[in-house]
Order: sequence, then structure tokens, then C-alpha cells
Amino acid sequence: MQIYLDTANLNEIREAASWGILSGVTTNPSLIAKEKGGDFRGIITEIASLVDGPISAETIALDADGMVAEGREYAQWHPNVIVKVPSTPAGLQAVARLAAEGIRTNVTLCFNATQALFAARAGAFIISPFVGRVDDTGIDGMSLIREIVQIYRLHHLKTLVLSASIRHPRHIIESALAGADIATCPFGVIRQSMKHPLTDSGIERFLADWKARQ
Ligand code: E4P
Repeated sequence: MQIYLDTANLNEIREAASWGILSGVTTNPSLIAKEKGGDFRGIITEIASLVDGPISAETIALDADGMVAEGREYAQWHPNVIVKVPSTPAGLQAVARLAAEGIRTNVTLCFNATQALFAARAGAFIISPFVGRVDDTGIDGMSLIREIVQIYRLHHLKTLVLSASIRHPRHIIESALAGADIATCPFGVIRQSMKHPLTDSGIERFLADWKARQ
């Protein structure tokens, strides 16, 4: 399972890229809005210069023509840009039209397996089920990942399953066990997942023993 960073913050992206574990980045309008400096295009192209992998940039239009127009524009910014569209009928139409032009899409805000099946049929490159937001409704978000992975495997659908709305390290582990292709994670969750108190105390003890021997 590949690890993407779910942010538009360039400092976070620089630091996570230096760890050598990043395969891509996802953004959304809320994440872009949090970054005060730079316009949308500038932020996406800067991210693409830092990470050599798919960079998702989300459309704002709600109609298919608008999404296709925005998607064509984003795709010109950098070859790694993936056009993110919502799981709506207009979004599916945009996916099919963009796919016919060779433009890759990420279908976002997916909350059930039928949305994922339809996105794959329309030709989506990535499907993004929102695990954390499903958990928030009192339903097990990870079971959505398991259903989609099973359906895609049974029917030989090539769309990549991206576990989105990740809230804690356990979400990353369970996404990997469920067979997700990608997990997109907030910076804080990745940093939290890399640490363990026994690693830190182990280092301290090794160093103390080493010094005592000198
Ligand atoms: C995915 O691409 C989305 O940007 C993201 O995972 C949404 O997560 P949230 O529910 O924490 O906003």
C-alpha cells in the first residue's frame, strides 16, 4: 500500500518527502483554503516539484462541463496532476469524458460501494472512500474499504482504492490489511505512526550503556 500525504502545506510535504515514504499527495478545497500564500495553480505545481507521484487537485464546478473544463486546465499544469471530482452523476460524466482524453481522475467523497463500482465503470484512476467520515456516522468505515476492494478484485476493475479521511494510525494498518492500494494521511497521523515510546527509551538505554563502557 502506498502512502500519500493529505495536505496542501508545503512545509509538511517537504518534511514528509524527506522521509522517503511518500508516493503522492491529495488536496481538497478546504486544505487549499488553509494555505494563505500562493494561488491554487502555484500551490499544486510547487507540490508537484516536491513529490514525484500523483497530485490530486479538486474541481470546484458542480456541472460536468465545468468539471471537464477545470480538469483539462489542471492536467496542463503538470503531468502528475490527477483531477479530483465528487461522486455525483455529473462527476461520473466528467470522469468518462476526461478518461476518453487520457486525463486521470480521483473520484472523491465516496461513501458507499455502488459509488465506487460506478466510478470504476466510468474510468476513474482512483476512488476515495472517506473512512473517518463514515466512522463519524456510527458505521464502520473500514468495512467500506473491504467491500470496494473485494468488488474490484472479483470484477477485475483496475481503479485504485485510496483510503481517505484517515484519522489515526489504526486506520493505516487496517487499510493495508483490507488491501487498499493507497492511504492518504494527514501529516500528524504519519508522524504519530512512526513513533513508539519503546523505540525512544530503547535508544536512550543503548546510548547510556555505550557511554558507561567508555
Ligand atoms: C481525501 O482526499 C480528502 O482530502 C481527505 O482525506 C478528507 O479527510 P477529512 O475527513 O479529514 O477532511
